[in-house]
This record gives sequence, structure tokens and C-alpha cells, in this order.
Amino acid sequence: MKTIETLDLKNKKVIIRCDFNVPIKEGKILDDTRIVSALKTIKYCLRKNAKVILMSHLGRIKTKEDLSKNDLKVVADYLSELLKKEVLFSSKTRGKELEEMIDKMNSKDILLIQNTRYEDLDGNKESSNDKELGKYWASLGDVFINDAFGMIHRAHASNVGIAENIQERGIGFLIMEELDKLSELDNPAHPFIVIMGGAKVSDKAKMMENLLKKCDYILVGGELANTFLVGEGYDLGSSLVEEESIKYCQKVLKKYADKIILPIDFKVNNEISNRDYVIKDITEFNYDDIAMDIGDRSVKIFKKHLQKAKLVLWNGPLGAYEYSNYRRATLDVLNFLVDKNIKTIIGGGDIVAASTDFKDKIYHISTGGGATLKYLEGKKLPSLKIME
Ligand code: 3PG
Repeated sequence: MKTIETLDLKNKKVIIRCDFNVPIKEGKILDDTRIVSALKTIKYCLRKNAKVILMSHLGRIKTKEDLSKNDLKVVADYLSELLKKEVLFSSKTRGKELEEMIDKMNSKDILLIQNTRYEDLDGNKESSNDKELGKYWASLGDVFINDAFGMIHRAHASNVGIAENIQERGIGFLIMEELDKLSELDNPAHPFIVIMGGAKVSDKAKMMENLLKKCDYILVGGELANTFLVGEGYDLGSSLVEEESIKYCQKVLKKYADKIILPIDFKVNNEISNRDYVIKDITEFNYDDIAMDIGDRSVKIFKKHLQKAKLVLWNGPLGAYEYSNYRRATLDVLNFLVDKNIKTIIGGGDIVAASTDFKDKIYHISTGGGATLKYLEGKKLPSLKIME
């Protein structure tokens, strides 16, 4: 696969596909990790005197109302602040106005094009990799850099489509770094321990099977743990369980019983809220009890397994992290890993938010959500394949 460092960028129009799909509330960017992570590639292109044309999606566009909510202008302004330099913004994803802006660009100018998914409103053109659209966007530049790690599992016009139509193409520094760090999981140092929690049980169960072949243990929390335990015959009252995944969990547990570590107690509430809890053993649930976080005895068992770990991969929090009362187990285990200096890779999902306070002390926090999951499942990734 060609990388940015092998391409001639001097005075060229360089299209960089970034993943600026960041959480925004009332015009404020809540987490800028993905934007900051794109800076290395952008600055490198500027140093090479390139004319930098940035592209990204933001959210999903299904109705006209989605357009204003997902306007990328706010990211252009934010980038401008970070780079201390004007970032031009094209409110159109194609057409004369955009082409003229690009024609007028000088070396070291930066332009951000409006949300690529604006093209989805009329016929899903971006997300279905419309041939004509990919060709058109490719015609706007001389070189294509794909640096949108969070998108590597998608085949859209702005990644695969452009790559299909530009010979001079390569991956940027962010994708290089993500692949480098995640590749440590191919032949991991042992004991290699995976922590997995959160919801989206079926997605995670698939990824677990691939990881179970390589890891020493998987410590399970969140709705995923509930689904395993219910499959084992425990009555967890009204706890969240993904019914359709029970059979699959039973099958996996049967095969890897000695590697899958499940909680033995939970912090329990009678409603999904931040209300106070009681700690209950997995055998003590009433019909209206809801498991909100793993209990202290479970945390102790998890720590015991983690004690000698050489590498930890973590995806998804152990409890209902959106409620402050139910963050404790997750933060407790994160603190433990940091204190013991255990090499930890945070593989996307809500656990990224929990990790931000530890940012500098954690080996790697991936910018991918679904992309990291697909990578860990061992799936082929279309937007990387085309870069080969
Ligand atoms: C993500 O946030 O996982 C990526 O930006 C991809 O977004 P998508 O799931 O809407 O394609």
C-alpha cells in the first residue's frame, strides 16, 4: 500500500479524505479527537506546498432537515483556529462555485468541501459509491490521500470512488498509525487480555470469536455480559439482553468456557436512570432488577486477570456509562491499567469518552468505531483494498 510519504505532493492539488464525523451540539464540537488526529497529514501536505482539498462526511443525511444539522462549516472554522490559518469552505459538494474556488487556490491554501453525504439526499450517491460522483470528485485533484480511518469499512464515493479514479493515491499518517498499532493484535504479546462491554451485542459477539483464537481471556461486561449470563440460565430480571444473540453466545461460551470471564455481581437499579443502586449477586435478581454496572467482586476478579497482562484491548464500557453512578467499574479498571502501566489499546465505542482523561497515559485510542470492530473481526476493508 502506498503511503503519503512516497507521493509527490509538491504544488499539487491534494484531496485528503478525513473523518471529521465528530459529535456537535448547538454548533459546538464536543470531542475534537478526530480533527486533531487529522492535523499531521494536513500539515505535511502544507509543508510540501500542496493545495489541500479536504473532504469528510458528518452524520447521516436522510431528510432535508438533516442538512443544516450536519453542515461542515463548523469544522472548517475549528480547523482554522487549530491551524492558525484561513480554511476556505465550499458550501457545495459539486458545481461551478466549487470548481472556481479550487482554480483560484494557491500553494498552501486549504479548502474544506461541504459534507459529502449531502449527496445522499438525492439518490444516496455518496453512500452507494455512485460512479459518476467518484469520478467527478477525483477530477478536482491530482493526488488522493485517504486518511479517514473511521471510514475504512465503507465503500463510498468519497473514499473508494475517488481512489478508483486517481492513480496517484496513498494512505495518510492517521491510517498508517492506526494500522500499525492495531497490527500488534495480529501477533499479540501474552498474556493478551480483551475487555469487552457495552451494547451492540451481535457485532461484538462476531468480533469476539476472532479474538478468542488469540487472547488469553476476555473479560465481559455491559449488555454483552447479561446476554451470556441469561444464555447460561441465570435470571437477570429486567436487565437489557439481546435475545437474538443468546444462542450465539451459548455456542461461543461452550467452545471457549475457560477464556470467557463473566461478572458474578452487579450494581442493580429498578429503572434505567442514575438512581441509587444495591449490589446483587447474579443469583439474587428480582423480576424488576436491572443490571447497571458490574459489582465490586467482579471488578476484583477482572483485576486479578489483568495483573500480569502484557497487552490489553478494550471495547465498550462495563456499565451504563452515560449515568455517573454507573461509571465506577469502568474507571476503576482504567485506573488500574494506567497505574500498572499496562499497554492498552482502546478500540473505539463509548469507552473512548471514558479514556479521554487518561489520553496521554494510554498506548493507543483508536479513532474508529465500526471500522475498528470490522478490523478486529478480521474482515476485508474495502477502502484499504483499493489503496493496495
Ligand atoms: C464512524 O463514526 O464510525 C464513522 O465516521 C463512520 O460513520 P458511519 O457509521 O455513519 O458510516
